[in-house]
Amino acid sequence: MLVLGIESSCDETGVALVQADGPGVPRLLAHALHSQIEMHQAYGGVVPELASRDHIRRVLPLAQEVLAQAQRGLPEVDVVAYTRGPGLAGALLVGAGVACALGAALGRPVLGVHHLEGHLLSPFLSADPPEFPFVALLVSGGHTQLMQVDGVGRYTMLGETIDDAAGEAFDKSAKLMGLGYPGGPALSRLAQQGDPAAFRLPRPLLHSGDLDFSFAGLKTAVLTQVRKLGDALEARKADLAASTEAAIVEVLVRKSLAALDRSGSQRIVVAGGVGANRRLREQLDAACARRGVRVHYPELALCTDNGAMIALAAAMRLQAGAQEATTSYAFDVKPR
Ligand code: KG4
Ligand code: ZN
Repeated sequence: MLVLGIESSCDETGVALVQADGPGVPRLLAHALHSQIEMHQAYGGVVPELASRDHIRRVLPLAQEVLAQAQRGLPEVDVVAYTRGPGLAGALLVGAGVACALGAALGRPVLGVHHLEGHLLSPFLSADPPEFPFVALLVSGGHTQLMQVDGVGRYTMLGETIDDAAGEAFDKSAKLMGLGYPGGPALSRLAQQGDPAAFRLPRPLLHSGDLDFSFAGLKTAVLTQVRKLGDALEARKADLAASTEAAIVEVLVRKSLAALDRSGSQRIVVAGGVGANRRLREQLDAACARRGVRVHYPELALCTDNGAMIALAAAMRLQAGAQEATTSYAFDVKPR
């Protein structure tokens, strides 16, 4: 079974081809990605209308690139998968529309995939794939969730953010410090030159006794520091970046450990853009090593949005019988 996957939920157009034969983990044959970061940079954030138009420009050439890389022809594709949501409505419609048009033209079924399920399953494409069951820490620009994962489609929410997502906390803090867009990677790069203990920033809900997160207060604390520093900000920026990163990472690590305690699991999967953060990886690895817990990440290139995770999630859902592909091409998207 050859699955073509299309991701277009936000500011990256991703296309990939995976092969699923038998019960094993599907194999990634090829993937291609176009990031719109440069285009949105001038506006300090993603402009939805521009995102949609760029997805339209990119998606078919990327599909051709992927097929050429894999040395496969379009008629060989058995299922066309796309991100159904969450994401920007116009952006999602591009991927869904193209996927369904391809499906209809080829006479092949289509499958809409949940973007977060793509992130969640993406570590299965790594050299060291996890095994079910595990705890998952999903940390992206729009979501921060801890989940108990017992199999494909068998997900129990353990906790989530009650306001901003971890990626949002990175991005908004970076913006306050004038670090541009996308702020997360910029802030974490700068943080490497700073002292994580330089500023005392809040660790919201650290001792709440549940597995929920809150990052809105942290952003406010960063704003207060930025105002207080005034002209001195430039000289202290690396320290403030390091302190902000340390606050976010400490909460993520402590809550992940609490989730492992609650679940009894000896395995954790970290997925979503913030999973690329170096400090998070170092601290979580160290804490988990002390407890004999295995940590699984996606390949660095598959941490942020990509088509491979969508093709993979579709293939795994089909393998598990969790969902059937459809030849009804009356697609819809679920932005929320
Ligand atoms: O998963 P993703 O690509 O898109 C969403 O589904 O949201 O995640 C993007 C988020 C952004 O907030 C970005 O700033 C953050 O991941 N991010 C990082 C790093 N790389 C990406 N945050 C902290 N450190 C990083 N190295
Ligand atoms: Zn994402």
